[in-house]
Amino acid sequence: MELDWKNLGFNIMSTDYNVRCVFRNGKWGELEVSSDETIPIHIGATCLHYGQESFEGLKAFTGADGKIRLFRHDENAKRMQTSARGILLAEVPVSLFMEAVEKVILLNKKFVPPYGTGASLYIRPLLFGSGPEVGVRPAKEYTFLVFVMPVGPYFKTGFKPVNMMICRDHDRAAPMGTGHLKVGGNYAASMSSILEAHEKGYATAIYLDSRERKYIDECGPANFFGIKGNTYVTPRSNSILPSITNMSLQTLAENMGMKVEKRPVPLEELAEFDEAGACGTAAVITPIHKVFDPGKDVTYTYGDASNPGPVITKLYETLTGIQKGDLEDPFGWTKILD
Ligand SMILES: Cc1ncc(COP(=O)(O)O)c(C=O)c1O
Repeated sequence: MELDWKNLGFNIMSTDYNVRCVFRNGKWGELEVSSDETIPIHIGATCLHYGQESFEGLKAFTGADGKIRLFRHDENAKRMQTSARGILLAEVPVSLFMEAVEKVILLNKKFVPPYGTGASLYIRPLLFGSGPEVGVRPAKEYTFLVFVMPVGPYFKTGFKPVNMMICRDHDRAAPMGTGHLKVGGNYAASMSSILEAHEKGYATAIYLDSRERKYIDECGPANFFGIKGNTYVTPRSNSILPSITNMSLQTLAENMGMKVEKRPVPLEELAEFDEAGACGTAAVITPIHKVFDPGKDVTYTYGDASNPGPVITKLYETLTGIQKGDLEDPFGWTKILD
């Protein structure tokens, strides 16, 4: 099999195996390997009716040494537990989550993109209420499964600046809702505004806080950060997903001698940043060139259209260098799979 590794987009693709496990009668069963890409599901399953589902997204990379490296999967395991507590799913033990992720990668080894292609293996764990209920209450049965596919960059440009648009007519999450959880409903709520941004020629929509619409929340499927002098600034908000990439970048910024500020970021502060970016597993770091605010008819501009700024470039090179094993990993973030 020869895939065109360098030209992969962020698209669904079939691989050989997935792994699955069912929670029934109060306990998790055996982890099973399947080559079926479909699931038989009860027509009354709570995931179908009441959105009782959570997912995760993480990546594995091939290093120059040919070894597969997995990035911070313990953090994804913990975040899925937080999501489970939030919408009353059965929690997947961290050890089961990590075992499932490692197993499905090794089963699909031939789909892990080679070093130097810029591509990676995207891993998608999924947890949902598979038991039937017709009243609004949590299911008694849950299914946890993990599948994988090789991917290229999420934003077509890769590590090239993009333009984004502030979303003025839609909220993705409520102030005390589920925005901090990785649950499907948030994504359903974001689709129309992301599509509208695409139709208008923007890479994605930037959401404002849904209480006052004064502060930056996040950028489509990624967190926002700005660079101001020697400071890394990123929003603190109850309605954004705590990004593992953002958490890693904050550590790297501190390690580079920068100050890190995690606090509400007023919209007007967009005018004060030297550089701005979106970060996430899929987005990695996507530099932002322009932010258009249709509410005020203002455009904020960072750097030039084709070159990411120097701080963002350094952060990108350090993060991806650690992920691929080109740089030392002083934080113990990567696990080599044998
Ligand atoms: C809404 C949202 N925000 C932020 C992120 C980035 O999080 P992470 O860096 O953990 O992938 C994601 C992607 O997972 C996301 O879907």
